[in-house]
Amino acid sequence: MGRVVLLWVLLCATAQASEMMDRLNALEKDPAAREQSYAAAQERILLCSKCHGEDGNSKRDYIPNLAGQNPQYLFDAFEKYVTGQRTDFVMNQAAKLLTLDERVNIAFYFSQQQVHPRPATDPLDAALVEQGAQRFGTVCAACHGAAALGHDGIPRIAGQPGQYLNHALQRYRDKDPSRAGSPMLGVAAALSDADIAALTAYLSQLQP
Ligand code: HEC
Ligand code: HEC
Repeated sequence: MGRVVLLWVLLCATAQASEMMDRLNALEKDPAAREQSYAAAQERILLCSKCHGEDGNSKRDYIPNLAGQNPQYLFDAFEKYVTGQRTDFVMNQAAKLLTLDERVNIAFYFSQQQVHPRPATDPLDAALVEQGAQRFGTVCAACHGAAALGHDGIPRIAGQPGQYLNHALQRYRDKDPSRAGSPMLGVAAALSDADIAALTAYLSQLQP
């Protein structure tokens, strides 16, 4: 019985994700629909913008930038917050308030914004950045891409704020339940605090 329910949930999630991709592709092709989607999103993100910024550049360094993020990843993140697979006190509640249409519009809107990186070390620590670049090239680029832009459901991590990156990597490494089931749990297991500091310095200054 449990298996049947699980299968049903998985099928629905897959159907929703492909419906979402169809809608996003349609938006790319139809300027009028795109403007409508934009306007709808702008109205709906009043609450979100207090933390993530109107243009998706976050107001605090512990809050992720949504600007320039891959729309499928944003959409998947909403799903995970709604189902509770990913936990965050504010986001679990915020995601539940959004309809499917709103999630598509908001994912599209933020994906179209320009991210403005805020380097974690000021002045830039060139040696640490170089160390992070090397680590990234050997361990992370295979999935996140050479320029850390990600693709589809894999997030762009170039230009995320340092505090957010640092915290996310520590939680993956320490197998914090807030991101249960993530492939990052296995990847991050071998990272030292020094690796995390170097990766954070590198990624937070990277211009997407
Ligand atoms: C009170 C501040 C706050 C508000 C309001 C808020 N968020 Fe968030 N949001 C956060 C924080 C903090 C995180 C990181 C949580 C985590 O690590 O899971 C986050 C994470 C996210 C993520 C995942 C990003 C990633 O890189 O994985 C998305 C997508 C998101 N928020 C969208 C929204 C939307 C859309 C709204 C409005 C409906 C909203 N947020 C409202 C603070 C907020
Ligand atoms: C096997 C593929 C894979 C590898 C290798 C990988 N990642 Fe990831 N990463 C993912 C996926 C998929 C996600 C999104 C899943 C999730 O939300 O936890 C992710 C999420 C992340 C996030 C959270 C982004 C956000 O906006 O919340 C960070 C930060 C991150 N990865 C950094 C890294 C770093 C640094 C490395 C190298 C040490 C790395 N990743 C290697 C697949 C990978």
